[in-house]
Amino acid sequence: MQNSWINSVVFYHIYPRSFKDSNSDGIGDLNGIIEKLDYLKDLGVGGIWLSPVYKSPMVDFGYDISDYYVIDSIFGNLEDFKLLIGKAHQKNIKIIMDFVPNHTSDKHPLFLKSSASKDSPWRDYYIWHEPKKNGHPPNNWLSVFGGSAWEWDKQTGEYYLHSFLKEQPDLNWRNPVVRKLMFQVLKFWLDLGVDGFRVDAIHHLYKDKLLRNNPKNPSFKPGKDDPFDEFTPLYIKWQPEMFEETANLCHFINKYKDKFVVTEVYGEIYQLMKFYQACSKKLPKKKQGCIAFCPFNLQLISLPWKASAYKTFIDEYDATLCNGELPNYVLGNHDRSRIATRIGTLQARVAAIMLLTLRGVPFIYYGDEIGMKDVTIPKKMVFDPFEKNIPGKGLGRDPERTPMQWDNKPHAGFSKVTPWLPVSGDFKKFNVSSELKDKKSILSLYKKLIHLRNNSEVLQEGKYYSLPVSTDIFAYIRAGETGKLLVVLNFSAKKQTINFKNFAKGKMLINSYLDTKHEKIVDLNKLILQGNEGYVFAV
Ligand code: GLC
Repeated sequence: MQNSWINSVVFYHIYPRSFKDSNSDGIGDLNGIIEKLDYLKDLGVGGIWLSPVYKSPMVDFGYDISDYYVIDSIFGNLEDFKLLIGKAHQKNIKIIMDFVPNHTSDKHPLFLKSSASKDSPWRDYYIWHEPKKNGHPPNNWLSVFGGSAWEWDKQTGEYYLHSFLKEQPDLNWRNPVVRKLMFQVLKFWLDLGVDGFRVDAIHHLYKDKLLRNNPKNPSFKPGKDDPFDEFTPLYIKWQPEMFEETANLCHFINKYKDKFVVTEVYGEIYQLMKFYQACSKKLPKKKQGCIAFCPFNLQLISLPWKASAYKTFIDEYDATLCNGELPNYVLGNHDRSRIATRIGTLQARVAAIMLLTLRGVPFIYYGDEIGMKDVTIPKKMVFDPFEKNIPGKGLGRDPERTPMQWDNKPHAGFSKVTPWLPVSGDFKKFNVSSELKDKKSILSLYKKLIHLRNNSEVLQEGKYYSLPVSTDIFAYIRAGETGKLLVVLNFSAKKQTINFKNFAKGKMLINSYLDTKHEKIVDLNKLILQGNEGYVFAV
Protein backbone atom coordinates (compact mmCIF):
# COMPACT_ATOMS: atom_id res chain seq x y z
CA MET A 1 0.00 0.00 0.00
CA GLN A 2 1.32 3.33 -1.06
CA ASN A 3 -0.07 5.53 1.69
CA SER A 4 0.85 4.33 5.12
CA TRP A 5 -1.60 6.61 6.95
CA ILE A 6 -4.54 5.08 5.13
CA ASN A 7 -3.85 1.67 6.66
CA SER A 8 -4.27 2.99 10.13
CA VAL A 9 -6.63 5.95 9.84
CA VAL A 10 -10.01 6.25 11.51
CA PHE A 11 -12.08 8.83 9.65
CA TYR A 12 -14.59 11.17 11.23
CA HIS A 13 -17.26 12.67 9.01
CA ILE A 14 -18.20 16.24 9.87
CA TYR A 15 -21.34 17.88 8.57
CA PRO A 16 -19.99 21.42 9.06
CA ARG A 17 -23.34 23.18 9.50
CA SER A 18 -23.98 21.12 12.59
CA PHE A 19 -20.64 20.56 14.29
CA LYS A 20 -19.80 23.78 16.16
CA ASP A 21 -20.90 27.35 15.70
CA SER A 22 -18.10 29.78 16.59
CA ASN A 23 -19.71 33.04 15.45
CA SER A 24 -23.17 32.73 16.96
CA ASP A 25 -25.24 32.61 13.80
CA GLY A 26 -26.75 29.23 14.64
CA ILE A 27 -24.75 27.44 11.93
CA GLY A 28 -21.53 25.51 12.38
CA ASP A 29 -18.34 26.81 10.77
CA LEU A 30 -14.66 26.18 10.15
CA ASN A 31 -13.49 27.98 13.27
CA GLY A 32 -15.89 25.82 15.23
CA ILE A 33 -14.17 22.75 13.82
CA ILE A 34 -10.77 24.23 14.71
CA GLU A 35 -11.99 24.70 18.30
CA LYS A 36 -12.84 21.03 18.47
CA LEU A 37 -9.69 19.56 16.96
CA ASP A 38 -8.38 18.67 20.42
CA TYR A 39 -11.54 16.69 21.05
CA LEU A 40 -11.01 14.76 17.82
CA LYS A 41 -7.35 14.20 18.59
CA ASP A 42 -8.24 12.90 22.03
CA LEU A 43 -10.83 10.61 20.47
CA GLY A 44 -8.06 9.19 18.30
CA VAL A 45 -9.38 10.29 14.93
CA GLY A 46 -6.74 10.44 12.17
CA GLY A 47 -8.76 11.94 9.34
CA ILE A 48 -11.74 14.22 8.80
CA TRP A 49 -14.11 14.19 5.85
CA LEU A 50 -15.78 17.57 5.55
CA SER A 51 -19.13 17.74 3.77
CA PRO A 52 -19.00 20.66 1.29
CA VAL A 53 -17.90 24.08 2.50
CA TYR A 54 -17.73 25.75 -0.92
CA LYS A 55 -19.73 28.79 -1.91
CA SER A 56 -23.30 27.74 -2.39
CA PRO A 57 -26.86 29.07 -2.42
CA MET A 58 -27.43 26.15 0.03
CA VAL A 59 -30.53 24.81 -1.65
CA ASP A 60 -29.01 21.36 -1.04
CA PHE A 61 -26.88 22.65 1.84
CA GLY A 62 -23.58 22.88 0.01
CA TYR A 63 -24.05 20.09 -2.52
CA ASP A 64 -25.08 22.83 -4.95
CA ILE A 65 -21.81 24.66 -5.54
CA SER A 66 -21.70 28.08 -7.19
CA ASP A 67 -17.92 28.55 -6.84
CA TYR A 68 -15.53 25.65 -6.35
CA TYR A 69 -12.69 27.98 -5.39
CA VAL A 70 -14.39 29.91 -2.61
CA ILE A 71 -15.35 28.92 0.93
CA ASP A 72 -18.93 29.93 1.67
CA SER A 73 -19.04 32.87 4.06
CA ILE A 74 -21.40 30.88 6.34
CA PHE A 75 -18.43 28.64 7.11
CA GLY A 76 -15.64 31.25 7.01
CA ASN A 77 -13.09 32.01 4.33
CA LEU A 78 -10.05 30.56 2.64
CA GLU A 79 -7.77 31.76 5.43
CA ASP A 80 -9.88 29.89 7.97
CA PHE A 81 -9.70 26.84 5.77
CA LYS A 82 -5.90 27.05 5.53
CA LEU A 83 -5.76 27.46 9.28
CA LEU A 84 -7.89 24.36 9.72
CA ILE A 85 -5.61 22.34 7.45
CA GLY A 86 -2.51 23.64 9.20
CA LYS A 87 -3.80 22.98 12.72
CA ALA A 88 -5.17 19.59 11.80
CA HIS A 89 -1.88 18.58 10.21
CA GLN A 90 0.01 19.70 13.30
CA LYS A 91 -2.10 17.20 15.20
CA ASN A 92 -1.54 14.54 12.56
CA ILE A 93 -5.13 14.71 11.39
CA LYS A 94 -5.75 14.55 7.64
CA ILE A 95 -8.53 16.49 5.94
CA ILE A 96 -10.42 15.26 2.92
CA MET A 97 -12.93 17.49 1.17
CA ASP A 98 -16.17 16.67 -0.50
CA PHE A 99 -15.90 17.06 -4.26
CA VAL A 100 -19.15 17.38 -6.20
CA PRO A 101 -18.46 16.66 -9.88
CA ASN A 102 -21.87 15.60 -11.20
CA HIS A 103 -23.60 18.95 -10.93
CA THR A 104 -23.15 22.57 -10.01
CA SER A 105 -25.59 25.05 -8.59
CA ASP A 106 -27.88 26.71 -11.11
CA LYS A 107 -26.24 29.93 -9.87
CA HIS A 108 -22.79 28.78 -11.01
CA PRO A 109 -21.48 31.25 -13.64
CA LEU A 110 -21.07 28.39 -16.12
CA PHE A 111 -24.73 27.44 -15.87
CA LEU A 112 -25.78 31.07 -16.11
CA LYS A 113 -23.78 31.34 -19.33
CA SER A 114 -24.96 27.97 -20.58
CA SER A 115 -28.60 28.85 -20.08
CA ALA A 116 -28.27 32.33 -21.61
CA SER A 117 -29.05 31.13 -25.13
CA LYS A 118 -29.25 28.02 -27.27
CA ASP A 119 -26.08 28.90 -29.08
CA SER A 120 -24.10 30.00 -26.10
CA PRO A 121 -20.50 28.73 -26.37
CA TRP A 122 -21.12 27.23 -22.90
CA ARG A 123 -24.33 25.45 -23.88
CA ASP A 124 -22.69 22.04 -24.08
CA TYR A 125 -21.21 22.31 -20.59
CA TYR A 126 -24.55 21.01 -19.31
CA ILE A 127 -27.04 18.52 -20.72
CA TRP A 128 -29.72 20.24 -22.76
CA HIS A 129 -32.31 18.66 -24.98
CA GLU A 130 -35.27 19.72 -27.05
CA PRO A 131 -38.74 18.60 -25.92
CA LYS A 132 -40.65 15.74 -27.51
CA LYS A 133 -43.16 16.79 -30.15
CA ASN A 134 -45.86 16.99 -27.46
CA GLY A 135 -43.67 19.27 -25.38
CA HIS A 136 -42.87 16.56 -22.84
CA PRO A 137 -39.36 15.91 -21.48
CA PRO A 138 -37.03 13.90 -23.75
CA ASN A 139 -37.41 10.68 -21.74
CA ASN A 140 -38.71 9.14 -18.49
CA TRP A 141 -35.65 9.77 -16.34
CA LEU A 142 -36.45 10.73 -12.76
CA SER A 143 -34.64 12.98 -10.34
CA VAL A 144 -33.44 11.42 -7.08
CA PHE A 145 -35.25 14.18 -5.23
CA GLY A 146 -38.59 13.68 -6.96
CA GLY A 147 -40.23 14.38 -10.31
CA SER A 148 -38.74 14.40 -13.78
CA ALA A 149 -34.97 14.79 -14.10
CA TRP A 150 -35.66 17.35 -16.85
CA GLU A 151 -36.44 20.98 -16.15
CA TRP A 152 -38.07 23.15 -18.78
CA ASP A 153 -36.24 26.34 -19.60
CA LYS A 154 -38.77 28.75 -21.02
CA GLN A 155 -36.19 31.23 -22.24
CA THR A 156 -34.37 28.87 -24.59
CA GLY A 157 -37.19 26.38 -25.19
CA GLU A 158 -35.24 23.32 -24.09
CA TYR A 159 -34.99 21.02 -21.10
CA TYR A 160 -31.88 20.61 -18.97
CA LEU A 161 -31.01 17.54 -16.98
CA HIS A 162 -30.73 17.43 -13.20
CA SER A 163 -30.21 14.09 -11.45
CA PHE A 164 -30.93 15.82 -8.14
CA LEU A 165 -32.70 19.17 -7.61
CA LYS A 166 -33.57 21.48 -10.48
CA GLU A 167 -31.16 23.89 -8.81
CA GLN A 168 -28.41 21.29 -9.39
CA PRO A 169 -28.01 21.00 -13.19
CA ASP A 170 -25.85 18.06 -14.31
CA LEU A 171 -22.55 18.89 -15.95
CA ASN A 172 -21.83 17.29 -19.29
CA TRP A 173 -18.78 15.15 -18.61
CA ARG A 174 -18.63 14.18 -22.28
CA ASN A 175 -17.37 17.70 -22.92
CA PRO A 176 -13.53 17.67 -22.54
CA VAL A 177 -13.50 21.28 -21.33
CA VAL A 178 -15.80 20.38 -18.43
CA ARG A 179 -13.50 17.52 -17.49
CA LYS A 180 -10.49 19.80 -17.64
CA LEU A 181 -12.16 22.44 -15.47
CA MET A 182 -13.15 19.90 -12.84
CA PHE A 183 -9.66 18.45 -12.66
CA GLN A 184 -8.37 21.98 -12.16
CA VAL A 185 -10.57 22.25 -9.09
CA LEU A 186 -8.96 19.14 -7.64
CA LYS A 187 -5.50 20.54 -8.36
CA PHE A 188 -6.29 23.79 -6.58
CA TRP A 189 -7.28 22.07 -3.34
CA LEU A 190 -4.53 19.47 -3.51
CA ASP A 191 -1.96 22.23 -3.95
CA LEU A 192 -3.48 23.92 -0.93
CA GLY A 193 -2.75 20.85 1.14
CA VAL A 194 -5.92 18.79 1.39
CA ASP A 195 -5.29 15.08 1.78
CA GLY A 196 -7.88 13.83 -0.65
CA PHE A 197 -11.54 13.80 -1.52
CA ARG A 198 -14.83 12.13 -0.92
CA VAL A 199 -16.35 12.24 -4.39
CA ASP A 200 -20.07 12.88 -4.43
CA ALA A 201 -22.57 10.80 -6.41
CA ILE A 202 -19.94 9.43 -8.78
CA HIS A 203 -22.24 6.78 -10.32
CA HIS A 204 -24.36 9.59 -11.78
CA LEU A 205 -21.47 11.15 -13.68
CA TYR A 206 -22.30 9.86 -17.17
CA LYS A 207 -25.66 9.30 -18.80
CA ASP A 208 -26.64 7.25 -21.81
CA LYS A 209 -25.66 9.10 -24.97
CA LEU A 210 -28.89 8.08 -26.72
CA LEU A 211 -31.02 9.17 -23.76
CA ARG A 212 -32.93 5.87 -23.77
CA ASN A 213 -35.89 5.44 -21.44
CA ASN A 214 -35.21 3.60 -18.22
CA PRO A 215 -37.09 0.30 -17.93
CA LYS A 216 -39.94 -0.07 -15.43
CA ASN A 217 -38.97 -1.57 -12.10
CA PRO A 218 -41.23 -4.63 -11.70
CA SER A 219 -41.01 -4.68 -7.91
CA PHE A 220 -41.93 -1.00 -7.44
CA LYS A 221 -44.79 -0.43 -5.01
CA PRO A 222 -46.51 2.87 -5.90
CA GLY A 223 -47.30 5.05 -2.92
CA LYS A 224 -44.97 3.01 -0.71
CA ASP A 225 -41.52 3.09 -2.29
CA ASP A 226 -39.32 6.06 -3.03
CA PRO A 227 -40.82 7.43 -6.30
CA PHE A 228 -37.33 7.35 -7.88
CA ASP A 229 -37.51 3.54 -7.79
CA GLU A 230 -40.37 3.40 -10.30
CA PHE A 231 -37.76 2.83 -13.02
CA THR A 232 -34.49 0.92 -12.94
CA PRO A 233 -31.93 3.67 -13.49
CA LEU A 234 -30.17 1.77 -16.25
CA TYR A 235 -29.44 4.77 -18.46
CA ILE A 236 -29.18 7.66 -16.03
CA LYS A 237 -26.47 6.08 -13.84
CA TRP A 238 -23.74 3.45 -13.96
CA GLN A 239 -22.51 4.13 -17.48
CA PRO A 240 -19.19 2.42 -18.40
CA GLU A 241 -17.51 5.80 -19.01
CA MET A 242 -18.01 6.58 -15.34
CA PHE A 243 -15.67 3.79 -14.25
CA GLU A 244 -13.09 5.03 -16.71
CA GLU A 245 -13.44 8.56 -15.35
CA THR A 246 -13.12 7.38 -11.76
CA ALA A 247 -9.87 5.72 -12.77
CA ASN A 248 -8.68 8.98 -14.37
CA LEU A 249 -9.55 10.86 -11.24
CA CYS A 250 -7.74 8.42 -8.98
CA HIS A 251 -4.66 8.49 -11.14
CA PHE A 252 -4.67 12.23 -11.25
CA ILE A 253 -4.76 12.34 -7.47
CA ASN A 254 -2.30 9.49 -7.16
CA LYS A 255 0.36 11.67 -8.76
CA TYR A 256 0.40 13.55 -5.49
CA LYS A 257 1.98 11.80 -2.54
CA ASP A 258 -0.08 10.35 0.27
CA LYS A 259 -3.57 11.31 -0.93
CA PHE A 260 -6.76 9.35 -0.63
CA VAL A 261 -10.01 9.17 -2.62
CA VAL A 262 -13.29 7.62 -1.60
CA THR A 263 -16.27 7.74 -3.93
CA GLU A 264 -19.88 7.85 -2.87
CA VAL A 265 -21.68 4.99 -4.47
CA TYR A 266 -24.64 2.96 -3.32
CA GLY A 267 -24.17 -0.36 -5.08
CA GLU A 268 -23.88 -4.11 -4.90
CA ILE A 269 -20.51 -5.78 -4.27
CA TYR A 270 -20.00 -6.54 -7.96
CA GLN A 271 -20.57 -2.88 -8.77
CA LEU A 272 -18.08 -1.75 -6.13
CA MET A 273 -15.52 -4.19 -7.49
CA LYS A 274 -15.77 -2.61 -10.92
CA PHE A 275 -14.36 0.59 -9.42
CA TYR A 276 -11.34 -1.19 -8.01
CA GLN A 277 -10.84 -3.01 -11.30
CA ALA A 278 -11.03 0.17 -13.35
CA CYS A 279 -8.52 1.94 -11.12
CA SER A 280 -5.95 -0.80 -10.92
CA LYS A 281 -6.14 -1.56 -14.66
CA LYS A 282 -4.42 1.74 -15.29
CA LEU A 283 -1.50 0.95 -13.02
CA PRO A 284 1.63 -0.93 -14.01
CA LYS A 285 1.22 -4.62 -13.09
CA LYS A 286 3.38 -4.65 -10.03
CA LYS A 287 1.53 -1.71 -8.56
CA GLN A 288 -1.97 -3.05 -9.17
CA GLY A 289 -4.18 -2.76 -6.15
CA CYS A 290 -1.83 -0.16 -4.66
CA ILE A 291 -3.91 2.91 -5.13
CA ALA A 292 -5.20 4.82 -2.13
CA PHE A 293 -8.74 4.59 -3.34
CA CYS A 294 -11.95 2.90 -2.40
CA PRO A 295 -15.58 3.18 -3.36
CA PHE A 296 -17.65 3.70 -0.23
CA ASN A 297 -19.12 0.50 1.07
CA LEU A 298 -22.49 1.77 2.29
CA GLN A 299 -24.21 -1.58 2.53
CA LEU A 300 -24.14 -1.88 6.32
CA ILE A 301 -26.47 1.10 6.50
CA SER A 302 -29.30 -0.84 4.92
CA LEU A 303 -28.68 -4.35 6.25
CA PRO A 304 -31.16 -5.66 8.82
CA TRP A 305 -29.52 -5.93 12.27
CA LYS A 306 -29.02 -9.69 12.06
CA ALA A 307 -25.75 -11.48 12.70
CA SER A 308 -26.25 -13.74 9.68
CA ALA A 309 -26.86 -10.80 7.33
CA TYR A 310 -23.71 -9.00 8.50
CA LYS A 311 -21.59 -12.14 8.45
CA THR A 312 -22.70 -13.08 4.94
CA PHE A 313 -22.14 -9.61 3.56
CA ILE A 314 -18.79 -8.94 5.23
CA ASP A 315 -17.43 -12.40 4.36
CA GLU A 316 -18.30 -11.90 0.73
CA TYR A 317 -17.05 -8.34 0.53
CA ASP A 318 -13.77 -9.15 2.25
CA ALA A 319 -13.20 -12.25 0.13
CA THR A 320 -13.87 -10.44 -3.13
CA LEU A 321 -11.28 -7.74 -2.53
CA CYS A 322 -7.79 -8.40 -3.86
CA ASN A 323 -4.61 -7.89 -1.95
CA GLY A 324 -4.03 -4.20 -1.44
CA GLU A 325 -7.60 -3.18 -2.27
CA LEU A 326 -8.93 -1.23 0.65
CA PRO A 327 -12.21 -2.18 2.26
CA ASN A 328 -14.13 0.40 4.25
CA TYR A 329 -17.09 0.39 6.58
CA VAL A 330 -19.68 3.01 7.39
CA LEU A 331 -22.59 2.93 9.85
CA GLY A 332 -24.16 6.24 8.93
CA ASN A 333 -23.84 9.52 7.12
CA HIS A 334 -25.63 12.81 6.52
CA ASP A 335 -28.11 11.13 4.16
CA ARG A 336 -29.25 8.20 6.27
CA SER A 337 -30.98 7.63 9.58
CA ARG A 338 -28.53 7.38 12.48
CA ILE A 339 -27.30 4.01 13.68
CA ALA A 340 -28.65 4.41 17.25
CA THR A 341 -32.12 5.13 15.81
CA ARG A 342 -31.96 2.32 13.29
CA ILE A 343 -30.85 -0.45 15.62
CA GLY A 344 -31.04 0.88 19.22
CA THR A 345 -28.72 2.35 21.80
CA LEU A 346 -27.22 -0.86 23.14
CA GLN A 347 -26.94 -2.34 19.69
CA ALA A 348 -25.11 0.79 18.51
CA ARG A 349 -22.36 -0.09 20.99
CA VAL A 350 -22.04 -3.54 19.46
CA ALA A 351 -21.95 -1.95 16.02
CA ALA A 352 -19.14 0.38 17.19
CA ILE A 353 -17.02 -2.63 18.13
CA MET A 354 -17.64 -4.09 14.71
CA LEU A 355 -16.92 -0.86 12.82
CA LEU A 356 -13.60 -0.38 14.56
CA THR A 357 -12.35 -3.94 14.46
CA LEU A 358 -13.04 -4.80 10.83
CA ARG A 359 -10.38 -4.59 8.15
CA GLY A 360 -9.93 -1.36 6.17
CA VAL A 361 -10.96 2.22 6.70
CA PRO A 362 -13.73 2.97 9.22
CA PHE A 363 -15.79 6.17 8.94
CA ILE A 364 -17.60 7.55 11.99
CA TYR A 365 -20.45 9.98 11.42
CA TYR A 366 -20.22 12.91 13.84
CA GLY A 367 -22.30 12.35 16.94
CA ASP A 368 -22.58 8.59 16.52
CA GLU A 369 -19.75 8.30 19.04
CA ILE A 370 -21.99 9.86 21.71
CA GLY A 371 -25.05 7.86 20.71
CA MET A 372 -26.91 10.69 18.96
CA LYS A 373 -30.26 9.73 17.50
CA ASP A 374 -32.42 11.12 14.72
CA VAL A 375 -34.46 14.09 15.83
CA THR A 376 -38.06 14.46 14.76
CA ILE A 377 -38.34 17.72 12.89
CA PRO A 378 -41.67 19.56 13.05
CA LYS A 379 -43.14 20.17 9.61
CA LYS A 380 -42.67 23.91 9.86
CA MET A 381 -38.97 23.51 10.57
CA VAL A 382 -38.10 21.21 7.68
CA PHE A 383 -35.07 22.37 5.70
CA ASP A 384 -34.18 19.40 3.55
CA PRO A 385 -35.49 19.76 -0.02
CA PHE A 386 -35.85 15.98 -0.27
CA GLU A 387 -38.48 16.06 2.53
CA LYS A 388 -40.09 19.15 1.04
CA ASN A 389 -40.41 17.51 -2.38
CA ILE A 390 -41.54 14.09 -1.16
CA PRO A 391 -43.01 14.70 2.30
CA GLY A 392 -43.97 12.11 4.87
CA LYS A 393 -42.08 9.14 3.48
CA GLY A 394 -39.15 9.33 5.86
CA LEU A 395 -36.78 10.40 3.09
CA GLY A 396 -35.88 13.74 4.71
CA ARG A 397 -32.35 14.07 6.04
CA ASP A 398 -32.73 16.82 8.66
CA PRO A 399 -33.24 14.26 11.49
CA GLU A 400 -29.65 12.99 11.19
CA ARG A 401 -28.14 16.44 10.69
CA THR A 402 -29.00 18.06 14.02
CA PRO A 403 -26.42 20.01 16.07
CA MET A 404 -23.63 18.14 17.79
CA GLN A 405 -24.30 17.74 21.50
CA TRP A 406 -21.26 19.11 23.30
CA ASP A 407 -22.55 19.67 26.84
CA ASN A 408 -25.69 20.17 28.88
CA LYS A 409 -25.78 23.96 28.54
CA PRO A 410 -28.37 25.72 26.32
CA HIS A 411 -28.33 24.52 22.71
CA ALA A 412 -26.12 21.64 23.85
CA GLY A 413 -23.10 23.95 23.70
CA PHE A 414 -23.30 23.92 19.90
CA SER A 415 -24.10 27.61 19.65
CA LYS A 416 -24.96 30.63 21.77
CA VAL A 417 -28.11 31.19 19.75
CA THR A 418 -30.93 28.96 18.49
CA PRO A 419 -29.37 26.57 15.99
CA TRP A 420 -30.58 26.12 12.42
CA LEU A 421 -32.02 22.70 13.29
CA PRO A 422 -33.39 21.79 16.72
CA VAL A 423 -31.12 20.11 19.24
CA SER A 424 -32.16 16.65 20.33
CA GLY A 425 -34.31 16.52 23.47
CA ASP A 426 -31.93 13.99 25.03
CA PHE A 427 -28.84 16.20 24.88
CA LYS A 428 -28.56 16.42 28.67
CA LYS A 429 -27.93 12.69 28.74
CA PHE A 430 -26.04 12.26 25.49
CA ASN A 431 -23.34 14.89 25.23
CA VAL A 432 -19.57 14.97 24.99
CA SER A 433 -18.90 16.64 28.31
CA SER A 434 -20.97 14.22 30.43
CA GLU A 435 -19.89 11.18 28.48
CA LEU A 436 -16.22 11.99 28.83
CA LYS A 437 -16.71 11.78 32.59
CA ASP A 438 -18.72 8.56 32.41
CA LYS A 439 -16.38 5.58 32.12
CA LYS A 440 -19.17 3.41 30.73
CA SER A 441 -20.55 5.80 28.13
CA ILE A 442 -20.64 5.01 24.43
CA LEU A 443 -18.08 7.79 23.97
CA SER A 444 -15.71 5.99 26.35
CA LEU A 445 -16.30 2.85 24.32
CA TYR A 446 -15.50 4.62 21.04
CA LYS A 447 -12.36 6.12 22.56
CA LYS A 448 -11.16 2.77 23.82
CA LEU A 449 -11.84 1.12 20.50
CA ILE A 450 -10.11 3.79 18.44
CA HIS A 451 -7.09 3.77 20.71
CA LEU A 452 -6.97 -0.01 20.57
CA ARG A 453 -7.07 0.17 16.80
CA ASN A 454 -4.50 2.96 16.57
CA ASN A 455 -2.06 0.83 18.54
CA SER A 456 -2.77 -2.52 17.01
CA GLU A 457 -0.94 -3.95 14.03
CA VAL A 458 -3.51 -6.75 14.07
CA LEU A 459 -6.46 -4.39 13.62
CA GLN A 460 -4.68 -2.22 11.09
CA GLU A 461 -3.09 -4.90 8.94
CA GLY A 462 -4.40 -8.27 10.02
CA LYS A 463 -6.48 -10.62 7.95
CA TYR A 464 -10.15 -11.18 8.63
CA TYR A 465 -12.04 -14.43 8.81
CA SER A 466 -15.34 -15.20 10.45
CA LEU A 467 -16.21 -18.16 12.64
CA PRO A 468 -19.40 -20.18 12.36
CA VAL A 469 -21.02 -19.82 15.76
CA SER A 470 -24.76 -19.38 16.04
CA THR A 471 -27.43 -17.43 14.20
CA ASP A 472 -27.41 -14.57 16.69
CA ILE A 473 -23.65 -14.21 17.00
CA PHE A 474 -21.21 -12.68 14.58
CA ALA A 475 -17.70 -13.73 15.55
CA TYR A 476 -14.47 -13.19 13.67
CA ILE A 477 -10.75 -13.29 13.95
CA ARG A 478 -8.29 -10.60 12.99
CA ALA A 479 -4.92 -12.22 12.50
CA GLY A 480 -1.76 -10.18 12.08
CA GLU A 481 1.97 -10.71 12.43
CA THR A 482 1.90 -9.78 16.08
CA GLY A 483 -1.07 -11.81 17.22
CA LYS A 484 -4.74 -12.59 16.92
CA LEU A 485 -7.89 -10.93 18.14
CA LEU A 486 -11.27 -12.56 18.51
CA VAL A 487 -14.34 -10.34 18.17
CA VAL A 488 -17.66 -11.74 19.40
CA LEU A 489 -20.85 -9.76 18.85
CA ASN A 490 -24.25 -10.72 20.17
CA PHE A 491 -26.83 -9.26 17.78
CA SER A 492 -29.74 -10.46 19.90
CA ALA A 493 -31.21 -9.28 23.21
CA LYS A 494 -30.90 -12.85 24.56
CA LYS A 495 -28.16 -14.19 26.78
CA GLN A 496 -25.94 -16.63 24.85
CA THR A 497 -23.37 -19.23 25.86
CA ILE A 498 -20.73 -20.05 23.30
CA ASN A 499 -18.01 -22.61 23.12
CA PHE A 500 -14.99 -21.54 21.10
CA LYS A 501 -13.32 -24.93 20.94
CA ASN A 502 -10.14 -23.66 19.34
CA PHE A 503 -9.39 -21.05 21.96
CA ALA A 504 -9.26 -22.04 25.58
CA LYS A 505 -8.65 -18.65 27.10
CA GLY A 506 -8.86 -15.08 25.90
CA LYS A 507 -7.61 -11.86 27.35
CA MET A 508 -10.54 -9.50 27.39
CA LEU A 509 -9.60 -6.17 25.84
CA ILE A 510 -12.97 -4.55 25.38
CA ASN A 511 -16.52 -5.28 26.39
CA SER A 512 -19.36 -3.23 24.92
CA TYR A 513 -20.83 -2.40 28.35
CA LEU A 514 -17.36 -1.43 29.61
CA ASP A 515 -18.32 -3.45 32.60
CA THR A 516 -15.39 -3.53 34.96
CA LYS A 517 -16.76 -6.61 36.73
CA HIS A 518 -15.58 -8.75 33.87
CA GLU A 519 -12.45 -10.75 34.43
CA LYS A 520 -9.40 -10.07 32.38
CA ILE A 521 -8.74 -13.68 31.37
CA VAL A 522 -11.90 -15.36 30.14
CA ASP A 523 -12.75 -19.01 29.51
CA LEU A 524 -13.69 -19.12 25.84
CA ASN A 525 -14.91 -22.69 26.08
CA LYS A 526 -17.84 -21.33 27.99
CA LEU A 527 -18.24 -17.72 27.05
CA ILE A 528 -21.40 -16.10 28.33
CA LEU A 529 -22.64 -13.05 26.48
CA GLN A 530 -25.41 -10.85 27.79
CA GLY A 531 -28.00 -9.57 25.34
CA ASN A 532 -26.57 -6.94 22.96
CA GLU A 533 -23.07 -7.51 24.22
CA GLY A 534 -19.84 -7.47 22.27
CA TYR A 535 -16.28 -8.40 23.14
CA VAL A 536 -12.78 -8.11 21.81
CA PHE A 537 -10.29 -10.69 23.11
CA ALA A 538 -6.65 -11.28 22.47
CA VAL A 539 -6.32 -15.01 21.77
C1 GLC B 1 -24.95 12.95 -2.40
C2 GLC B 1 -24.87 13.67 -1.07
C3 GLC B 1 -26.21 14.24 -0.75
C4 GLC B 1 -26.58 15.23 -1.83
C5 GLC B 1 -26.54 14.56 -3.21
C6 GLC B 1 -26.58 15.58 -4.30
O1 GLC B 1 -25.76 11.83 -2.36
O2 GLC B 1 -24.40 12.79 -0.08
O3 GLC B 1 -26.25 14.86 0.50
O4 GLC B 1 -27.84 15.76 -1.61
O5 GLC B 1 -25.34 13.84 -3.40
O6 GLC B 1 -25.37 16.25 -4.38
